[in-house]
Amino acid sequence: MERTYVMVKPDGVQRNLTGEIIARYEKKGYKLVAMKLIRLTREIAEKHYAEHIGKGFFEGLVEYITSGPVVAMVLEGKDVVAGVRAMNGATNPANAAPGTIRGDLAIEVGRNVVHASDSVASAEREIAIYFGPEELISYEKNVDGWLYE
Ligand code: RTP
Ligand code: MG
Repeated sequence: MERTYVMVKPDGVQRNLTGEIIARYEKKGYKLVAMKLIRLTREIAEKHYAEHIGKGFFEGLVEYITSGPVVAMVLEGKDVVAGVRAMNGATNPANAAPGTIRGDLAIEVGRNVVHASDSVASAEREIAIYFGPEELISYEKNVDGWLYE
């Protein structure tokens, strides 16, 4: 079963969207296997967004992502990496389809409320930044048989 790293960004937490965002993944059928409220340091932000260091938007991105607490989580499910990216919508909410989280709940690219890993390799890297192996809980749910054939 695949896992992905998801984070409700500081604007999502401040705008009281944490519950709404998690509810969408839960209703889809993805399983929470880890979750915590944390405040990113600059060091963690640079590690997380290492691929963007040096880009024009990087300083603003670090300022944004460290500006308040985030809700960090790991979701598990079949093809969950691509599935959550699709549910989140395009990076710029202006281009995100209605029905997606960013399409429904955000307006600007620098305030796009949620993060999700963009590949299985990124997910493994990002999960290891935020969670120790002991924080990832494998468990069965009775609905599993109603979600998977
Ligand atoms: P994320 O990593 O946060 O899930 O977003 P993403 O994969 O859809 O987009 P990515 O290219 O990884 O960009 C990371 C975050 O940087 C901000 N950004 N600003 N002003 C800009 O042109 C710009 N481009 C990206 C966004 O907050 C984006 O989510
Ligand atoms: Mg990204």
